[in-house]
Amino acid sequence: MNKPRETFGSRIGMLLAMAGSAIGLGNIWRFPYTLGQNGGAAFLLLYVIMLVIICLPVMISEYLLGRRGASNPFRTFDNLAPGSKWRWIGSVAVLASACILSFYCVVGGWSFKYLFEACTGGLMSYQGSYADFFGAFISNPWKPLLYTLLFLGLTGLIIAFGVRKGIERMSKIMITLLFVIIVLVVIRSLSLPGAGQGVRYMFVPDFSKVTANTCVAAMGQAFFSLSIGCGCILTYASYVHKDENIAASSGWIAFFDTSFAVIAGLAIIPAVYAIAQMNGVDPDVSAGPGLVFITLPGVFKSMPLGGVAALLFFLALMLAAITSAISLMEVVVAYVIEELKRSRLHAVLICFLLCGGVGVFCSLSFGPLDGFKLFGLSVFDFFDYITSNIMLPVGGLLLAVFAGWRLKRANYLDELTNGGKLNIPRWLCLTIYYLVKFVAPLAILLIFINCILS
Ligand code: PFF
Repeated sequence: MNKPRETFGSRIGMLLAMAGSAIGLGNIWRFPYTLGQNGGAAFLLLYVIMLVIICLPVMISEYLLGRRGASNPFRTFDNLAPGSKWRWIGSVAVLASACILSFYCVVGGWSFKYLFEACTGGLMSYQGSYADFFGAFISNPWKPLLYTLLFLGLTGLIIAFGVRKGIERMSKIMITLLFVIIVLVVIRSLSLPGAGQGVRYMFVPDFSKVTANTCVAAMGQAFFSLSIGCGCILTYASYVHKDENIAASSGWIAFFDTSFAVIAGLAIIPAVYAIAQMNGVDPDVSAGPGLVFITLPGVFKSMPLGGVAALLFFLALMLAAITSAISLMEVVVAYVIEELKRSRLHAVLICFLLCGGVGVFCSLSFGPLDGFKLFGLSVFDFFDYITSNIMLPVGGLLLAVFAGWRLKRANYLDELTNGGKLNIPRWLCLTIYYLVKFVAPLAILLIFINCILS
């Protein structure tokens, strides 16, 4: 006899678990530097537009398909379109999640290391340049591996406790803590003299910086940040009760995620401006991936109470990374449990070995495997590239096509309104449906073509 499928215990638990998946390194590590590289507020505005007209409808659809199919991504498509080739999309989603987790856990490991150094005082007492500190750490053959595997092990441990006792319980605690901490860091950052310049940079748009690439960057960031296109929302949705309001929950998650990205920006950018002004240098908010690991420690070091701010910040980064890693691992674990008929613990072990194995190569690509290239990219960049630029957009495109064209309109609207029980205005349901059917696939296709051509 099959055991009954697990479900989330409460609405708030489900919302926080999904928000935990969305809020991650994408918000704290990637968003501020992508904003910095793409003209500040103009990027923010574009991001919100993309979010509302493309990503939110796709997210609603992934959620809707997940709840209706009620299984892992592979089985979900088989349940919804029995015997068709669509189930292979589900398998690709599982593969995409495993690939993302393989490089995500490396950056998760770096946050773990910085948290450790912030706790022991090693980060603030360091005398050299933080570029050297970071460079020496990531190129070391052993240390980053250790932190990567520790990070992955902690993720696996939480998942091993199951949906309610592991994922839901830890997401509730971690996301609440994360919000409190990041608000404290924002207060510290905004209270620095000269911080206003940074706030202005974030909220006063400069449209001269908007190019076709800005649009692509905004859309790619929105996909990554909302965790859409690789089966995470689909898998979590399969644990959701049938009476949940899908459109409202998706709206809330997108709202939490975007607010959090803006809050994380407010924690970082004003502080970078303030400290640059104090030191009489130009603020560098477009420092790329090093913004958080190289620029920010220097900023913390120069400000009063910087040690506490650094500790809180890297704790926030670690919590955000782990709640997202949990959702990525759960996609693979659900698949292994249901399709390969393994116990949860066994599935976690398989996933740890698989993603940890690939993660080792991603980590080593900053050190001993520096010269080894796949299609001209380091192993880390290769996984980052194929997942963010290819697998997520293709996954999102196929999800939108399936929801808009394969699932009948009546079924889509039926699922959206819980069989007519919810009072959602018909114009709103139809707008969502047509955004999914026409606008989202076309727009995603454009990102995809751009990725191939660039
Ligand atoms: N949304 C996560 C972040 O912003 O860091 C990353 C992520 C998680 C992407 C889960 C995709 C995914 F399926």
